[in-house]
Amino acid sequence: MNQLSITGNKTLNGNVIISGSKNAALPILFMTILTKEKIKISNVPNLTDIQIALKLLIHLGAKIKQKNNLQIDTSTINIFNAPNYLINKIRASIWILGPLLARFGQAHISLPGGCKIGDRPIDLHLYGLTQLGAIINVKGKYIHAYIKGRFQGKYIFMEKISVGATITIMSAAILAQGLTIIDNAACEPEIIDVAKFLNSIGANITGAGNKKIYIQGVSKLTGGKHTIIPDRIETGTFLIAATISQGYIICHQTEPKHLKTVLMYLSKSGAKIRTGKDWIELDMRGKRPKSLNVQTAPYPGLPTDMQSQFTLLNIISQGIGIITENIFENRFIYAIELIKMGAKLKIKNNTIISYGTQNLIASNIFCSDLRGAATLILASCIAIGITIVNHTYHIERGYDSFLQKLNKLGADIKII
Ligand code: UD1
Repeated sequence: MNQLSITGNKTLNGNVIISGSKNAALPILFMTILTKEKIKISNVPNLTDIQIALKLLIHLGAKIKQKNNLQIDTSTINIFNAPNYLINKIRASIWILGPLLARFGQAHISLPGGCKIGDRPIDLHLYGLTQLGAIINVKGKYIHAYIKGRFQGKYIFMEKISVGATITIMSAAILAQGLTIIDNAACEPEIIDVAKFLNSIGANITGAGNKKIYIQGVSKLTGGKHTIIPDRIETGTFLIAATISQGYIICHQTEPKHLKTVLMYLSKSGAKIRTGKDWIELDMRGKRPKSLNVQTAPYPGLPTDMQSQFTLLNIISQGIGIITENIFENRFIYAIELIKMGAKLKIKNNTIISYGTQNLIASNIFCSDLRGAATLILASCIAIGITIVNHTYHIERGYDSFLQKLNKLGADIKII
């Protein structure tokens, strides 16, 4: 899927079932390398990023059955190098490094890819692994890493909060000798889910979800089962869909407590919100949202993965709104496409100031990253006229059945 025709001026109303979290499923898939026993994982979303992760595991020698759930057997892994054509497709492939080193003592992988939203260095991942005893050489586009015997537990202070590096260090510390403490760790719900999975197969991790994570190394992990948490970014994206179209939505099979900040801002913008154990209801009661001043920040702050959707909200809201992006330095490319659609905004360094536009106008627009693509599709659903959205393959990387779910809510999206 590369090009869409979207007839706009729609109000999005109804029910949507939220899929499993991409950013929890990806690291958990790579963590299965740490055990020789079989693992079953449920609620894995159907995404191209997940398919690439599975191809990587299969390339290494793992056996995978895809039924209602994923059944993964990594006992047959016998290759420790991962080729560029798979690794450079997804940023998450860096998470193969820690588990390969922990189990086999060596890993040779190319540098990872992913969305073009900034430099996206991996220095913190490599720093963490070397602190625990790995010897790492980066030559050209390849990382060659070794460890003699087991990783050695250590206190590690993270100078910058990084979701990815926190996960990499966890992966290395699980089978290490002794205690590892990750200080200034990322606190995202996906990190808690990874820790929950690892503990269920014999790891000894405490404190995940807090600034300090304690990992007492164990000598071996077992097999087991795990259900992936709901995708909080997918949930947030659908809540924005209803907000900007002055609609009404109930998101089912989600986790409201993972979206506290998002819900706080949406209710400030005028949405009436109710939550239950695993659902969120949002009602705009036909009103135009009010603009917001928001900043992205590590969890529990507003996720950077929701930044573009909140910019769209501001663009069509009443009043002047300001969005500040504090995590990635190049995450406003989508905004240029919104200007084509009539958005009145100014970009100044890492902020977007928007001056409420009542109606967006259809145009011919181009997606350049995953979350930006979701935002441009939502913008097209409310714009006046028929928008042609190009390069929409990005959306399949991170949203399971996005178009079908939107069409069920009243959108009119056709694949060209
Ligand atoms: C993960 C998510 C991504 C989300 C991001 C922040 C996945 C697959 N991706 O990305 O959707 O937007 O968290 O919540 O889960 N940094 C360094 N050196 C490093 C690593 C990171 O300087 O070695 C910087 C990054 O450039 C960025 C900041 O740290 O400025 C945070 O990045 P990080 O939390 O690591 O994001 P990812 O794990 O790449």
